[in-house]
Formats: sequence, C-alpha cells, structure tokens
Amino acid sequence: MTDKNSRMLGGRFEEPTDAFVQAFTASVNFDRRLAMVDIQGSLAHARMLHKIGVLSTEEHAAIEQGMATIKQEIVDNQFDWSIALEDVHMNIEARLTHLIGEAGKKLHTGRSRNDQVATDIRLYLREEINRCMAQVNVFQTGLLDLAEREADTIMPGFTHLQVAQPITFGHHMLAWFEMLERDHSRLGDCLKRMNVMPLGAAALAGTSYPLDRDYTAELLGFDSPARNSLDAVSDRDFAIEFCAAAAICMGHLSRMAEELVLWSTAQFNFIRLPDRYCTGSSIMPQKKNPDVPELVRGKTGRVNGHLINLLTLMKSQPLAYNKDNQEDKEPLFDTLDTLQGSLRAFADMVPNLEVNREQMKAAAKQGYATATDLADYLVNKGLAFRDAHEVVGNAVAYGIKQGKDLSEYTLEELQSFDARIEADVFEVLSLEGSVNSRNILGGTAPQQVRKQVKACRKLVADKAI
Ligand code: ARG
Repeated sequence: MTDKNSRMLGGRFEEPTDAFVQAFTASVNFDRRLAMVDIQGSLAHARMLHKIGVLSTEEHAAIEQGMATIKQEIVDNQFDWSIALEDVHMNIEARLTHLIGEAGKKLHTGRSRNDQVATDIRLYLREEINRCMAQVNVFQTGLLDLAEREADTIMPGFTHLQVAQPITFGHHMLAWFEMLERDHSRLGDCLKRMNVMPLGAAALAGTSYPLDRDYTAELLGFDSPARNSLDAVSDRDFAIEFCAAAAICMGHLSRMAEELVLWSTAQFNFIRLPDRYCTGSSIMPQKKNPDVPELVRGKTGRVNGHLINLLTLMKSQPLAYNKDNQEDKEPLFDTLDTLQGSLRAFADMVPNLEVNREQMKAAAKQGYATATDLADYLVNKGLAFRDAHEVVGNAVAYGIKQGKDLSEYTLEELQSFDARIEADVFEVLSLEGSVNSRNILGGTAPQQVRKQVKACRKLVADKAI
C-alpha cells in the first residue's frame, strides 16, 4: 500500500494511510460480526432505492444477487476480510462492486456509514436480546420444575448468613425466578426504545434524496424511522441500556452462583452439582470444584466493566457521530457472549442439581429456626409480642447451654419459661408446622409454592408467545 490511489476513500489525500494507523483504526476484526445484519440493512435500502427510482430493476437485481454471493462466501468462511478496507461495511461494499460493477457503487446513495452502523447494531442487538430473553425463559421454566419437585423440602432460611427461619427449597427457587422475571422485563423494555431506524439520517443531517424511510423501516421491522438525524447517528443509549440490564442479570446470576458454591461445600452439603459442570484438582484427588458457578460469579465483573466502559465512552461526546463510537462494539459483543454463556450454563445446571433433603432439614433444625414460631404461639396465647420475644430468648439461651433444639425440649422444660405453653406447642416447633403456617401469598408454605409455580408457569407461557 504505497501509492496514493490504493487507499479506500482516497480522493482527498496526499499520502497513503500509515500502516500502523490503518491497523489501529480498523474495526473489521470485530465488527465482522455485523456482516449479516449489514447485508440485511443494505438489501432493504436497495429495495427502497429501487422503489423511489434511484436504482433500476437490473441494478437492484444485481445487488441482490451480489449480496447472496457475499452471504454464502461469509458462511463458507471464504470471504477475504481486509484491514485496508477498515470495517465490515466497506469490506462488503467493495466486494459487491467487485462482483457486480457499477450497480454496487450506487448502493451507498443517500446513506453514510454513520447511519448504516447505527442501524446494524440495532438490528444485531435486537436479535440477540430476543435470544437472551428466550434463554431467561428456559432457565425460569427449569427453576419452576425444580421448585415444584422440592416444594416440601425444608431448608434453613438465612439472614446475615445465620439460620433465621425454616423455609422450603422450592420457595428459594421461586425467589430466583422473580429476579429473572425482572431481568426479562428489563430486556424487553430496552428492546422497545431501541427499535427505531437511523437509516436516512445519512452522515448527520439527513439526505437530499427523497428516501422512503417509512418503507425501509417497515422492511427491517423497525417501529418507525428516527425523528432526528443528529440523534439517530450518535445515540448509543440502547447499548448502554442493554449492558445495564445485562449487568443486573449477571449480578443475579452471581448471587445464585455464590449460594451454589456455598451449598456444595462439605460443610453445607445441601446440593450436588451435576458432574459435567465441575472439574477436579490437579493435585487433590478428592476435589470436585464448582467451576461453572465460580466462573459466572467472576464474569459478572467484566460485564459491570463493559457498562462503565460504554457510559464513559458516551460521556461528553459532542453531536453527532464521532469515531469514539466504534469502541461500542467490543464491550457490547462481550457482554452478549458472557450473558448468553452464563444463562445457558445455569439453565442446564441448576434444574439438574441434586438436592440433599436430609442434610437441608438437619441444618434447619440447628440454630433455633423455629424460635419465631414459638413467639407467635405465645402471642396467640395472649402475650404481647415483645414479651414473647423475651421468653423465647430465655428458652434459646437455655437450649444453647443444654445443646438442645427447641423441638427437643420436654413440655415441662418449655412450661418453665411460660406456663401458658401446652402440648400443642410441638406442632409449631416442628419444621413442617413452621413452614406450613406461612401459607400466605408470597410465603414459604409448600401449598403456596405449588400455587406460585402454577401462576408462574402461566407467566412464562404468556411471555413465550
Ligand atoms: N466502523 C465505524 C464504526 O463502527 C463505522 C462508521 C464510520 N464512520 C466514519 N465516518 N468514520 O463506528
């Protein structure tokens, strides 16, 4: 690349691009991912140009044919991507012109790479967000199956990671379901705002060609053309919004991951992760490490980083397009890969985990998990709650000294703390009695869990439509 004329868009330059600058400014190594949507956008633009008489029927047909060839070359890995052609847009356009001649040069009429790339990213992200949402749905369905299977399984519920009250494992899984439900809805929100079409904004000011923007928008499935050309080429809010939704979702997955890691320790021993999701240690033969949850927990960091990256990228940028914007793609793509990979892993791993019901129950028995139930029992017998709290506190202190759980006390022992206690107390001191009593909307009772599973199944089914 030495002579002046070998440079793409070289008309106004006196010398060729510096080789380092060429490599430094090129984006084709990563924006190739947009190839298919770039072609999709070009085909719609060409069809519209034909409709308004800018392209003849022959030229339009040649463009369609040329693009079909290019698509095939890309699919077959035969396309010759060139750094000298800078980005995906110019690579494809140059190839088109090489294949079909003059007509290829007319494709870019009334268009700029600025509105082209802004359109491409939206088309691409729209598809990928839909994929993420479908994955969330699959994971949610798996959680509902697990919740139903383990609706009666008792485990300790924690606050401050200290045993608090007995809950059901099904109820815990439904909590995870709710986190994902919000993620799904956030992703959907982001789709709504991003579905406007930049094409027709051209470089920044619109174009003098009488483009039928409504027609192109309709062809590409956009709700409408963007109203303001300056904003259309420079807006990347949708990328930030998606990364924010992804970061929150990864945050949820990291919280699940943390519990999965904890629960699979020998100390907890609540669950066994499927072997295919774990690896061994190179030195310690007994080890089964929960690598996948750990990795997902770790990967949350990079998605948070990408969000900050995009926020910072856009901060203080003057209107309209700036080359800075080329930097939007790598964080966006990596966020997609990370979120989709994590969702895929969890959607298969979590519903297939094995639950150690005995161990969960044994753990719930430790730590005086039914102390609140005893206090509530006393309230039912006429004590004020604060007084009941005090009585039960004394009873627990006694149990700690004796090494006994509340359910293991004799009736006489219990009555020594309050004479109102009768034989029926053992119903509330049992773990089953405790969870069954929380049969209120949103509560942990197995009956509630089953009811919620049913309602949630309907939610998921409606979303899938
Ligand atoms: N590769 C560029 C990007 O991703 C395409 C737009 C370039 N426009 C320009 N005027 N340099 O942003």
